[in-house]
Amino acid sequence: MGTCQQSSQEGVRGLIRLIALSWCGALICVVADSVTAEVIRVDQGPTRWTISTQHSTYQVILTGDGDLVQGYFGPMSGERLLEAPSHRGTGGSNSFREVPYRGGFVDATPALEVIFHDHTRELELKHGGHEIGELEGYPFLRLDMTDIHYPFRLSEYIRVIPELDIYEKWMVLRNVGSESIQVERAYSGSVLLPRDSYDLIHLSGDWGREFFPRRTRLTSGLKSIYVRGVRSHQHASFFMVRPTGDVAEDFGPVWFGAVDWSGNWRFDCDVNRFERTQITGGINFWDTHWVLKGHSEFKTPKMVFGVSTDGSNGASRRMHRYILDHVMPKPFSQQVSKLLYNSWYATTFNVNEKDQVALARVARDIGVELFVMDDGWFKGRNNDRAGLGDWTPDKTKFPNGLGPLIQEISALGMEFGIWVEPEMVNPNSDLYRAHPEWVLRTPHRTAHEGRHQLVLNFAREDVKDYTLQWMDELLSKNNIKFIKWDMNRYISEAGWSDVEPMKQRELRIRYVQNLYEVLRTLRRKHPDVVFECCSGGGGRANAGILGLTDQIWTSDNTDPGDRLHIQYGFSYGFPAKAMVNWVTDAEWHQKTTSLTFRFHVAMAGNLGVGNDLHKWTEEDKSTAKELIRLYKSIRHIIQLGDQYRLRDPFRENRMAVQFVTRDGSESVVFAFQTLETLPMAAKGSSSSDRLVLRGLNPDRMYVVQGDIPRKEVPGDVLMASGILVPLQGNYASKLIFLRHQQ
Ligand code: DGJ
Repeated sequence: MGTCQQSSQEGVRGLIRLIALSWCGALICVVADSVTAEVIRVDQGPTRWTISTQHSTYQVILTGDGDLVQGYFGPMSGERLLEAPSHRGTGGSNSFREVPYRGGFVDATPALEVIFHDHTRELELKHGGHEIGELEGYPFLRLDMTDIHYPFRLSEYIRVIPELDIYEKWMVLRNVGSESIQVERAYSGSVLLPRDSYDLIHLSGDWGREFFPRRTRLTSGLKSIYVRGVRSHQHASFFMVRPTGDVAEDFGPVWFGAVDWSGNWRFDCDVNRFERTQITGGINFWDTHWVLKGHSEFKTPKMVFGVSTDGSNGASRRMHRYILDHVMPKPFSQQVSKLLYNSWYATTFNVNEKDQVALARVARDIGVELFVMDDGWFKGRNNDRAGLGDWTPDKTKFPNGLGPLIQEISALGMEFGIWVEPEMVNPNSDLYRAHPEWVLRTPHRTAHEGRHQLVLNFAREDVKDYTLQWMDELLSKNNIKFIKWDMNRYISEAGWSDVEPMKQRELRIRYVQNLYEVLRTLRRKHPDVVFECCSGGGGRANAGILGLTDQIWTSDNTDPGDRLHIQYGFSYGFPAKAMVNWVTDAEWHQKTTSLTFRFHVAMAGNLGVGNDLHKWTEEDKSTAKELIRLYKSIRHIIQLGDQYRLRDPFRENRMAVQFVTRDGSESVVFAFQTLETLPMAAKGSSSSDRLVLRGLNPDRMYVVQGDIPRKEVPGDVLMASGILVPLQGNYASKLIFLRHQQ
């Protein structure tokens, strides 16, 4: 954190009265360097903090009553101060508070609710100081609040990524007394949008159809999106909010955000009686509380809020860069991913050394770099009814352990990866027989199974330690460079009867904290191992898990037509590098499509191969080899560049997406057509072949080639009138490359 300097003499005088209320006894005001000071400015009369990013403004105002209220939050605007209530005070209403808590008139969704030892359930917080500094190279503002009576303090942090117009918010709750305080809700943060009418866009679906963008009008009242089972195929943690009726992908203001939490999370969109839209989010405290013991603190996860001035495409691009540059683990987030083959669809549970090596040979020949053996390799795992928990190689399948297989894979010049599901146990396993008390269960209630498995209580320290021990051993004893970490069921009967009652309701939070600790420790001990997050496909997609894993298995649905929709939705909130797509065969989908079409769909993200390679003809293998070679030459553009959605498969039977390197020098365009007959008309599609491109340098001449005749076209023309990319027939695709001339 940076050094300290008071902003103005007037400010000192204006705040002296508040120092009397300050719990820290002194008003802390830190201004780091000039960049930070430019981003976060403190003005007086009334005291206000103005955060300016490249395209947005966020303002917090101190009222004469010592309350912190939200001012303007949105694109840079002349209306900056118009949205705030009178700085003279809030009249006891929580609706404009920077941290709306339970206490006074509760007009807004509270971000904070506590119960004190004497059963008082109301807070009354007053400003107690602030700090401006730097955290991991970016400016932050810390606003302190203290209860006027009880020994409770709150610090709200707002860390800013100015070039992405992104604000991270989180809170630290402190009990500075000796009696416990029961926290019933502690969200990460809340924002108020300028007075307007808005639509919410969120990502919804189910297993096999994850990430479908849904749009709904926000009318007076509450619309909540939340998870209660620690994972969810129904909701992915990302939203956009934009003025009603405004649909352009490339212009207009869009507010967006996500909760960085991999368990029960939620966000609430609350249109209050003043017609102001409030968005609040963080941990979903459903069936949950936290006991803030004497002299302890609780830190919430982060919630990200951002503002785009260039439509939903701009919101997604900001989010992609944020996840790549600020969330996902380095150095992998800055490098292209190794092209993987996964054996699941080829062998399911019937794995053995001979068959895996046979697949690996073909995989190597077509250009695969990482061979991943999926489920079925460990003791007793012949189907999904047994084995989870017993993480030693099955002796009948691997009589000499994993060593010989891994050596063969290495000798073929590939890295080796393996599937695990550490949070689960089958009742038919040695682990369960030894530790039936380790599973989530409620006394006198049925312990429901999902996929014949129960959930290990990751909140328990012994379960955490056991997991760390066997995973560490697996990675230490074997040359494994990739872990596919699966999680295949939702949580039920979240009981933990052998701890004190007040701790039992902390389970859902402790579960995630320990999951994070296990992943963090494993990454620290094995920094060269890549982790893939899987949850029956995309059941656990959020910025929280992406802080500790490197990619997401997007969906178990590999049908290329369906996949265009799933991938389109995924791109709203998550970067292409995180989106793992395998090419599979028709037996795993409903439709027969060309191998080239299937490859093109999968290449518009993090390409992998997942079918039975022995079923491919020599011609198929040579097509695959050529497309893999091609992908390797452009994957840096797709995985590390910016993404522009050009055509929406939910509106027409076309889908198109463009990737551009951050310097604008290279670009790739994928164009797809699904059905060209009646459904297209039914969707109201035009069949225009024109694609107007984005993100190029207007002053440079680009060489355009690929599946259309080679030509040279200036960047400004490509972005004004575009290029024609004709598509004919069902499930047709084209791939175009652009490079600007030196
Ligand atoms: C669910 C995953 O989504 C699949 O890819 C596969 O790993 C299976 N689990 C294995 O049980």
